[in-house]
Amino acid sequence: MRKQASRLFYGNVSDFLFTVCQRGAEAVLKAEIARLRPELRFAFSRPGFVTFKIPSDAKLADDFDLGSVFARTYGFSLGRVEGTDAETMIREAWHVAKEAPHAARAHLHVWERDAALPGDRGFEPGVTPLAEEVGQQIAEAAGEITPTVNHLAKSGQRILDVVLVEPSAWWIGWHRASAPPSRWPGGVYSLQTPEDAVSRAYLKMAEALAWSRLPISPGDHCVELGSSPGGSCQTLLDRGCTVTGIDPAEMAPEVLERENFTHLRARSKDLKRRTFRGMHWLTADLNVAPSYTLETVEHIVTHRDTNFRGLLLTLKLMEWDLAEQIPEYLERVRSWGFEYVRARQLSYNRQEICVVALRRRQMRRKPFWREGAARQP
Ligand SMILES: C[S@@+](CC[C@H](N)C(=O)[O-])C[C@H]1O[C@@H](n2cnc3c(N)ncnc32)[C@H](O)[C@@H]1O
Repeated sequence: MRKQASRLFYGNVSDFLFTVCQRGAEAVLKAEIARLRPELRFAFSRPGFVTFKIPSDAKLADDFDLGSVFARTYGFSLGRVEGTDAETMIREAWHVAKEAPHAARAHLHVWERDAALPGDRGFEPGVTPLAEEVGQQIAEAAGEITPTVNHLAKSGQRILDVVLVEPSAWWIGWHRASAPPSRWPGGVYSLQTPEDAVSRAYLKMAEALAWSRLPISPGDHCVELGSSPGGSCQTLLDRGCTVTGIDPAEMAPEVLERENFTHLRARSKDLKRRTFRGMHWLTADLNVAPSYTLETVEHIVTHRDTNFRGLLLTLKLMEWDLAEQIPEYLERVRSWGFEYVRARQLSYNRQEICVVALRRRQMRRKPFWREGAARQP
């Protein structure tokens, strides 16, 4: 499919970029944007929501890549509506939306900023019933066009965004869908936790696979360092992979009894590297400092007996200050012979990031959303 040409967006004094992140990640996001895009000036923030002023002479393509690890999603701001009367706010929201490119008004994404940290007291990011209800009401009030609400966007589609920053203060904006998270409402990969999932890592791994487009196929052999109790191994087993889990701690019985699963009850560094011969993909989710995870993985993947196609590594940011070292972490992974290396704080991550590495960029899986703009599973 030919990529449609990007439209250049010329900022003026009233223009802002809005970004959405995990609660608590605002400061590292601000520091990251100051490094990546010094022309963007921090403007306003609430937990999980940060805006930046776009200078009047900035030229940004409407699908420009912010290149941020911590911004779940982002877009061009159009304005805010505030009030206590939902009907009036809905009318005003649609009025503000008329400033968006016409095509954006056919697709609406509505979500609330996160109410808590992912995993805290059962909270998971995603479209809430309130956001869905507001979305449906805006669609009904739209009149000339009835936009779709919270559908998975297709590549190149322009999307109208309504962020419920507070129940009484909504931020209206728009963006053009491009990379996978820009197609998901609020940048969140929406998934119900299966009843038999033994840990939240099930969600993390599912989102990591969707974001990274790692071409893992049924029958491939994956190894996970730090596999107990086994949620992420379940995700890989559900995709038809053969999985070896390495962890000194016990695996959940539901995982141990799966036919294609093997548990090596050991610390990763205590195993001979020939153990990893013939394996295709390495994932790591160790509850240790990033330097330890990287040292452990380096020891395995740089050995002549191993030939991994790609990696998915969780790096725990025990302190937020470690975020400054992310560019060095990625450089280190590249030095092991992986051409394509990216990082993202996934919506289901806690204070940690996910790093994907592939031998070559072209190996990435064809995006499934090309097949249609269906609602997310
Ligand atoms: C966050 S938990 C992993 C969760 C797991 N991925 C899941 O899907 O349920 C971190 C795990 O790393 C393990 N771990 C820590 N250091 C390790 C090492 N050197 N080798 C192997 N496992 C280790 C711990 O025992 C712990 O079970």
